[in-house]
Amino acid sequence: MSDKYETLKRMDHTHVWHPFTQMQEWMGEDPCIIAGGEGSYLIDVDGNRYLDGVSSLWCNLFGHRRPELDQALKAQTDRIAHSTFLGLSHVPGIELAARLAAMAPAGLTRVFYSDSGATAVEVALKLAVQYWQLLGQTQRTLFARLEESYHGDTVGAMSVGYSDLFHHFHRDLLFPALAVKPPHAYQREQGLSEAEAMERSVAEARDTVGREKDRLAAFIMEPVMQGAAGMWPQPAGYVKAIRDICKENGVLFIADEVATGFGHTGRMWACEHDGVSPDLMCVGKGITGGYLPLAATFATEEIFAAFLGEYGEFKSFFHGHTYTGNPLACAVALAGLDIFEREALMEKVPAKIASLEERLGNDVLTLPHVREIRRRGFMTGMELVKDKERGERYDPDVRIANQVVLEARRRGVIVRPLGDTLIMLPPLTISDAELATLVEVVRDSIRHVTERS
Ligand SMILES: Cc1ncc(COP(=O)(O)O)c(C=O)c1O
Repeated sequence: MSDKYETLKRMDHTHVWHPFTQMQEWMGEDPCIIAGGEGSYLIDVDGNRYLDGVSSLWCNLFGHRRPELDQALKAQTDRIAHSTFLGLSHVPGIELAARLAAMAPAGLTRVFYSDSGATAVEVALKLAVQYWQLLGQTQRTLFARLEESYHGDTVGAMSVGYSDLFHHFHRDLLFPALAVKPPHAYQREQGLSEAEAMERSVAEARDTVGREKDRLAAFIMEPVMQGAAGMWPQPAGYVKAIRDICKENGVLFIADEVATGFGHTGRMWACEHDGVSPDLMCVGKGITGGYLPLAATFATEEIFAAFLGEYGEFKSFFHGHTYTGNPLACAVALAGLDIFEREALMEKVPAKIASLEERLGNDVLTLPHVREIRRRGFMTGMELVKDKERGERYDPDVRIANQVVLEARRRGVIVRPLGDTLIMLPPLTISDAELATLVEVVRDSIRHVTERS
């Protein structure tokens, strides 16, 4: 390792506190320190290259250092880097809102910017509650959610995405939310078939929402794929069933498309698979192609209209962040939407997904310690077990997926662990040769680690 690496490592170990990381462990390891990127690859300070198999936490859509995005960023810095969206507007913020509204599911005409997926969720929750207050239904402050959902790490987002493992220290800070078991939980816990599990989950949602319809502000869910809890796909028709239950009971439906949006499930929005339009929709991650922190909450004109009135009525949505709608981020996002259009990206995605499916089926699912592959589009979770026949899990202390992640990194590929599940979500523009390398390295790393564990 170079002197530069050693110096940076010492500084990191002395001063940095990394997210979702046991720092005691981290400080005993050699971190991978990224200094550059090129296409689907990350490059560390010593020049080693790694295929970015998780698209830098699911946000890089078009590869690193895309000339068009670099150029849009530079051009915007020649104009202005930042001016506030409070009391002023700006060119890229306006243009992006119009472009996003034009491509959003039907009826989502308004765009409220923020800076991360979690803040987009906070905005949706606060909009939903205030909407009902403005309509005089002041008792509607409750949310329904899916078990094992993830909506971010701010207090409101944690409240609707509660995970005992991650959030129990902050439990007293959270507001209550009604949890509905998603189909995968019924399958897993009660051994039901997919159809039976779907039926049970929908029935539970119907009961819960029906019983509490006068107190519920909204139902929030990650449509089609519950990502961060371990890649748990929902059966076709599930999103529509929940949406319909909300409609029947007059409850708002919030789709959190922070992970699923911008093509990750094979459609631009996961809601499209079921032909569903939410009342509120949260997006983030890929909105700037993985360049800059930007997020947005979409709302219908009906919700927007409830907030209109004379200033003195104080109906305004008193919410905002300093960098809300940052012009650099908006300019890059616009360039990203141009790439979607110019390259007809969504038309090319099905072939890549088919190739990914075939490779995973042939090379990975056939391995003796891979229990199942859970996938929708590019969003992929590969669950590892000690004994496939008996479904026996590895001892958690073995940290099997983490071992595979480290082995894959040694072989030049970045993937992530989630418990015993390996997570993969490559950039939309990954080439077929790169996809082949990604799957081969994952296969070889799983084989290598499981043969000696
Ligand atoms: C569905 C979903 N919602 C919200 C978030 C939070 O996004 P951020 O990390 O940008 O706050 C995530 C992050 O993984 C997510 O997957």
